[in-house]
Amino acid sequence: GRVAAVVPAAGSGVRLGAGLPKAFVELHGRTMLERAVAGLLTSGAVDDVVAVVPADRVAQAESELAHLRDDDHLVVVTTGGAERTDSVRNGLAALTAHRRRPRAAVYDVLLVHDAARCLTPPDAIRRVVTAVRGGAVAVVPVLPVVDTVKQVDADGYVVGTPDRAALRAVQTPQGFAPDVLLAAYDAAGDVTTDDAGLVERTGDRVATVPGDPLAFKITTADDHARALAELDPGAP
Ligand code: CTP
Ligand code: MG
Repeated sequence: GRVAAVVPAAGSGVRLGAGLPKAFVELHGRTMLERAVAGLLTSGAVDDVVAVVPADRVAQAESELAHLRDDDHLVVVTTGGAERTDSVRNGLAALTAHRRRPRAAVYDVLLVHDAARCLTPPDAIRRVVTAVRGGAVAVVPVLPVVDTVKQVDADGYVVGTPDRAALRAVQTPQGFAPDVLLAAYDAAGDVTTDDAGLVERTGDRVATVPGDPLAFKITTADDHARALAELDPGAP
């Protein structure tokens, strides 16, 4: 069976503040979207990709991703929605509706991978796919949490201190058995930034695999500077 990835890339990038949608910001001449999709395909673990972009960026995405498409690899571009949840939902719909892949049943594994995590190494992608193929219905790549984390109330007063040893920071790609992800999105009424969180609510178990520091999400200008430095360590 095949592996498909939905790449939500339809956010506006308010926190980065680059003046254009974040996934279309370039890192050394290549957009974050193009890097994210190329990273999935060149990992060798992903067959098909759906990129979900703002409505006025569809043509640009089509042209930037065209070189990644071939007889074995479907690369589809579709339009996102107001919230990440809407964008992922649109991506899943495009995947299941596509004329060359009429049913999600042709896939063994579905991934959801943020364009904003475009430096994710191939091993991290492969670990997720391997875990789903091994029988886990939902898999998230995680890192230990380095800071102590406090839970606070609406006024900012501390109400609890979870044991740090039991906490993990969650990355993407997250991986799923297709029926489990599609059912979770069917059941989801509200908004989330965490796909696996929807699966938790349907009662299915979510497994973890080791993530990678390079799978960090580019959110702020500092993150953007870090990404440039990771790609070109000799630069000032
Ligand atoms: N995303 C999306 N559709 C949305 C919102 C977000 O596809 N309506 C995507 C983003 O493009 C990104 C990923 O979800 O790849 C994670 O979102 P985030 O890092 O928050 O990106 P933005 O929403 O673009 O940034 P910001 O919240 O700072 O505006
Ligand atoms: Mg956002």
